[in-house]
Order: sequence, then C-alpha cells, then structure tokens
Amino acid sequence: MSEKIANSSTRRDFLKASSAVAASAGVLSSLSMTSGVFASGDDTIRVGLIGAGGRGRGAAAQALSTEGNVKLVAIADAFRDRLDEGLSEITKKLGPRADRIEIDEDQKFVGFDAYQQVIDSGVDLVILTTPPGFRPIHFEAAVNAGKHVFMEKPVATDSPGIRKVLETAKIAKQKNLAVGVGLQRHHQQPYMEEVDKVHNGAIGDIIALRVYWNGRGVWDPRRTREQCSSEMEYQMRNWYYYNWLCGDHIVEQHIHNLDVGNWLMKANAAEGKGYPVSAAGMGGRQVRTDKKYGEIFDHHAVEYIYEDGTRMFSQCRHMPGCPGRVSEHAHGTKGTADFGAKGRYGYVISGKNNWRFEEKWKDPYQVEHDNLFAAIRSGTPYSEAENGAYATLTAIIGRMATYSGKAIKWEDALNSDLSLMPERFAWDAAPPSLPNEHGEYAIPHPGLTRVV
Ligand SMILES: NC(=O)c1ccc[n+]([C@@H]2O[C@H](COP(=O)([O-])OP(=O)(O)OC[C@H]3O[C@@H](n4cnc5c(N)ncnc54)[C@H](O)[C@@H]3O)[C@@H](O)[C@H]2O)c1
Repeated sequence: MSEKIANSSTRRDFLKASSAVAASAGVLSSLSMTSGVFASGDDTIRVGLIGAGGRGRGAAAQALSTEGNVKLVAIADAFRDRLDEGLSEITKKLGPRADRIEIDEDQKFVGFDAYQQVIDSGVDLVILTTPPGFRPIHFEAAVNAGKHVFMEKPVATDSPGIRKVLETAKIAKQKNLAVGVGLQRHHQQPYMEEVDKVHNGAIGDIIALRVYWNGRGVWDPRRTREQCSSEMEYQMRNWYYYNWLCGDHIVEQHIHNLDVGNWLMKANAAEGKGYPVSAAGMGGRQVRTDKKYGEIFDHHAVEYIYEDGTRMFSQCRHMPGCPGRVSEHAHGTKGTADFGAKGRYGYVISGKNNWRFEEKWKDPYQVEHDNLFAAIRSGTPYSEAENGAYATLTAIIGRMATYSGKAIKWEDALNSDLSLMPERFAWDAAPPSLPNEHGEYAIPHPGLTRVV
C-alpha cells in the first residue's frame, strides 16, 4: 500500500483525529486559495529550505517525497559549510528522486539575510528549520510574502516571539496559506487513535497527566571559541546552549510531550483555550556544568495546572548514565493511557477498556508533509501554527517557572514583553548573553532571575 496520504480514508482519519489542531483552520469562512497552479505556472510546488541542518535535511527530503511535482529550488543556511553538507545529504537521501533538486549556485544563500533571499526567490513554500529563536521572524517574512510554510517546533523562544507567531498565523489564514508545524505526534497513527479513545471516554475523566523527556542530551558544542571569528559565531554554531536561540531543552525537546498533554486535555488552538493556566517547578544544572555548555539547565521538573484543576507533572533531563524515558501518561477515573516507544510503554489503555495499538504505522515525519502538501494542492485550509505557538508557550512557562522559582501564570507569560533576542543580527553584533573574562555565562538563579 502506498505510504502516501492520497488514500482518502487515511486522510479522513487524520482530519478527525487531529481535530484539535485542524480545528484552528476551520474558522476560514471563504476558500479562495488558488489550487493547482503555483509559482512555476504549473502544478509544481517550488520549495525553499531555510536552515540546512539535521532536521532541515530530513524535512526537505520528506517534502520532495510527497505526491505530485515538487522541486527544491533554493537553500539557505547561516554557514556555507552547513549549506553544502546539507545539500549533499538531501541528494543522498533522495537517491533516484534527486532530480527533484534544481539548485543553481545563485539559489544558494548564506548569512543572516539568507532567509529573505530564499523567500524572494520564486518559491511557493518554505521549510523553516533553523534554531527556533529565528522562527517568528522567518515565519512572518514568509507569510508577508505569501508563502506556504512548514516550520519545525518550537516556534519561538520567548513571549514576544509567540505573539508574533500568533499574529502571523491570523494573516496566513486571511491569505489562505497553509502552515504545518513539526509536532509530528499529531500525524502518528497510534497517538491519533489513542488520544481519540481518551477523548471518547476510554479512561473516564482525566485526573492527572505525566509527561517525560529524560535522556542523555544532544550534541556537544561543535566549535571552540578559538575556531570562531566572534562571540556571535560561537553561539550560532553551538546554538543549543543559548536561550535566545534554543529556549533550553524543556522548550527544544520536551515540547513534544507537553503538547500531547494539552492535546489529551482537548486544548483548543483556534480559540487559545484549554492550555495550562499556570506552572511551578524546579530545575538546575548539576551534571552538564562546563562553561562550554553555555547557560541552559540540565534538568527541569514542572507541575502544570489546567483550568479544571487537573495537574500535568512534567520532567525533562539531559544526563548521561541515567535511565532514559520519553513518554506520556494520562490517568483517568476508569483507567490509564500510556504513550511511548514500542517495547517500552507502547500505546496502551488499561483499566475498564483495555486496548493496545498493535499495527505498524507510517513515518509521521513523512505523513506530516504528505498532509500539508495534499492540503496545499486541494486548497484545504490548514493551520498548525496556533497549536505550535501554544505548545511552545507551555514549554516556555515551564522554563520561566524553573528559572525564577516562582509560579508563572499563562496570561502573564503570554503578555510578557521580555525579549531574549539580540537587537541586531550580524557576525560582529553582541548576543544577549555574554561570557565573563573566564568564558562563563550567567546561569539562571531561582529566586533572583526575572522571567516575565
Ligand atoms: N520534530 C522533530 O522531531 C525534530 C527533530 C529534530 C529537530 N527538530 C527541530 O528542527 C530545528 C533545527 O534543529 P536541527 O537538529 O536541524 O539543528 P541543526 O543545528 O542541525 O540545524 C540548524 C541549521 O540552521 C542553521 N541556521 C542557524 N541560524 C540560521 C539563520 N538565521 N538562517 C539560516 N540558517 C540558520 C544552522 O547553521 C544549522 O545548519 C529545531 O527547532 C529543532 O527543534 C525537530
């Protein structure tokens, strides 16, 4: 059977099961999207990639593996070496389909303005896979220019960024532009079916949720200070360890699990309702303490409260040598729903209505692109931007809680004017956190650090 979404029952299932996300698209009153004719004057969707790293390479290959004519015609990265590596890896990934890449030298763009050059280069859709700090700026520019968007999670690192994404999402809808966000669990069959069962009462009323991203951590800093021409280059190369770029790992990775918690609680992205009302917790930096690890924590434990009093208990940890765990669990009045990798937790409901997902599922990274491109071709409204923004904000209020040591209200976080971003983007510009004379950064200090 084809892996593609052309299968109408698969598409129906997707639309039904991911209703919390898709509902945000439903507010469109008119459907004037010109379907079937794109920038090239035919049915070819011309794609531009912005951020040619690990995920950008995967997302580009997935976009080029959707049905119908698709071409990758422009590529951007902050660094030329990353761009070249990225392009050759995408070519390798595509194998016989590499003829879908048509990038001449003048369609390769490097530096801080490269995103705008891709947007202006005659594309229909852009893939935004830079570090998340840039996402609001790139998303706004793409939508202003009338481009469809696939953007990775998280969609911001601070509150002003979240508000920009929400405002831009409105404009995207007015322009009938489709927006996909890389929270791929919404396109992963076992999640879709099990969340649907929970929504239909399989575990009764939800009493509490537990969500985890406990692991070893990610890549070690890629360049030393000596290998970089400036502090800006040093932070950009090693972006995971700087909050303006990354948001800390609670935002970068744990967002996936927090998003599932919100989904289980039937959060409504179109109305911005049903997300946690507050968060409190603790965290710190206990193992990954070397100055080369910048300013982020290595663990966070947060208790979220929803409007009806339901708690979501969340943990995320980057510590080698400790048990790993990436999973979500809902406890209800009639049973429990577990979500996690096969062989660990599996996709299982136990209690009054036992159930287990036993089938194979399609790669959700491919399905999310199949769904987005199918929507663009058919002119179906499609907006995952709002849920992406609120899922990101859920993670941000967790970080605000662990950094400050205080309970953080959703509304205060949403309305905060505290920006993490630099005033200027240039290789000689100063990033917002600067090291002392020993190369050490100020680490957030609960009780003292201001977050809203
Ligand atoms: N959905 C998922 O499961 C998943 C998995 C992996 C990564 N991601 C997301 O994808 C994003 C990228 O992660 P990654 O692992 O690919 O990181 P990466 O470091 O491998 O790639 C990021 C690339 O962006 C480039 N870049 C940085 N700033 C730029 C700018 N202003 N303009 C153009 N290019 C710029 C970097 O040089 C780098 O090549 C992150 O938001 C991450 O959370 C999502």
